Amino acid sequence: MRTIKIFDTTLRDGEQSPGASMTVDEKIQVAKQLAKLGVDIIEAGFAISSPGDFEAVQRIGAEIEGPVICSLARAKEADIKSANEALKGAMRKRIHTFHSSSDIHLKFQYRIDRAEALKRSIEMVKLARSFVEDVEFSPMDATRTELSYLAEMVEAVIDAGASTVNIPDTVGYTTPEEFGKFIKDLRGKVSNIDKAIIAVHCHNDLGLAVANSLAAILNGAGQVECTINGIGERAGNCSMEEVVMALRTRKDFYQADTNIVSEEITRSSRLITKITGIPVQPNKAIVGANAFAHEAGIHQDGLLKEKTTYEIIRPESVGLISNKLVLGKHSGRHAFKTRLVELGYSVTEEELNKAFERFKKLADQKKEIHDEDLETLISDEVLRIEEVFSLISLETRSGTEIEPEASVKMLVTGKEEAIVSSGDGPVDATYKAIDQLTGTKSNLKKYDVKGITGGTDALGEVTVTVEEDDFVVRGTGSDTDIIVASAKAYIQALNKIEARKEKKNDGG
Ligand code: KIV
Ligand code: ZN
Repeated sequence: MRTIKIFDTTLRDGEQSPGASMTVDEKIQVAKQLAKLGVDIIEAGFAISSPGDFEAVQRIGAEIEGPVICSLARAKEADIKSANEALKGAMRKRIHTFHSSSDIHLKFQYRIDRAEALKRSIEMVKLARSFVEDVEFSPMDATRTELSYLAEMVEAVIDAGASTVNIPDTVGYTTPEEFGKFIKDLRGKVSNIDKAIIAVHCHNDLGLAVANSLAAILNGAGQVECTINGIGERAGNCSMEEVVMALRTRKDFYQADTNIVSEEITRSSRLITKITGIPVQPNKAIVGANAFAHEAGIHQDGLLKEKTTYEIIRPESVGLISNKLVLGKHSGRHAFKTRLVELGYSVTEEELNKAFERFKKLADQKKEIHDEDLETLISDEVLRIEEVFSLISLETRSGTEIEPEASVKMLVTGKEEAIVSSGDGPVDATYKAIDQLTGTKSNLKKYDVKGITGGTDALGEVTVTVEEDDFVVRGTGSDTDIIVASAKAYIQALNKIEARKEKKNDGG
């Protein structure tokens, strides 16, 4: 049985999904969860690309124990130096450098020949090796590169010190049979191949990223690069949960497994959805809302008699716990904390206190408190940011015959302010009031609302994307009243913009 390394690039390639940008604090939350999930390597960012990425790599390196922390770097001196600088505090570190290898890229993008690309790749791997022991090299657009040249490049970078060579299907062009053979042939042509791990990094433009990665594993790849929920550039990357559960469920066939703690999969998926605002399609394998829902009568009949008739994965094995009623109005702090621990959360006293306060309010409004409600409350607290603005109270009037109106009271930089505003609907009136109280001029680009559990008393969760100047941020808020949830989401987004403005003014 082989152990395939899982290289998670949610924070780098995943963040390249349109609209998926994350704050540094959000990246820390994700990295903590990835460590719990048991990934082998976290690609924490592309250090030179922005001060935010540099800080993310630096902080994840300093704060996260367990996985190897990696920064991406083009095959350029400045990039590699920046990656090395950002990784200084990491216990286990890797520099991942890349250079295109296909003629299409070399001719039209780089305007250099193969010899020059080879020379730059070797020099930069050597430079990276002078800083760190663990160096990964990727020949970008490898699947559209002539095999003999690719083999020459791979052999040369291994000689230069790369201990992992990643074969990216950058444009999602290859197919499983072709890619499996490509990896096999490549291994056959590289004389020093036993000195490095072959990784694969598949994009999903033809919906084949997972299948291509599995074909590569069958042909000797020892590391898979993937993202939670398959988010990433264009159609996304290989989906971590799918590749991991395919290996685990069909160990008999693949003769391979990973170090992933599969019970953490659902929680990781939900965290990414919450932070990026990118929902998972209901029929998505492993983490979709319907992935374990059996609708057909004949299937339900079989399941009731024997689970394995129609169930190939136990929902509990991916951390899906049945929607049981756990707590209510009379539950105490201890029971609340115990359930959070059972759900896998470790929270600080302060986070616990705030979440418990909200739990008590919620329990007054809603008879049944489900695990999903608790997860929403706790992730709101864990993801809390510095508040320049906060909501004190909100009252709205709306209906078929009246002009919608909102009276909003807020704390604005420590001072209590109140205003009444009208609008097209109660949310519009509320947002106009908040704009006036905070003196902000943002543009609401996206507004989504969803119910966390079923029933009219469910917690509503609102996600907004807000733009001001060059900053685009997301905010989320939850409450049994969706107008209040909308206000919380909007205020959270405005607080994030304030935090970014402050950072920019500090020169960060
Ligand atoms: O898709 C790609 O080729 C990449 C490289 C930087 C590895 O993301
Ligand atoms: Zn990629």
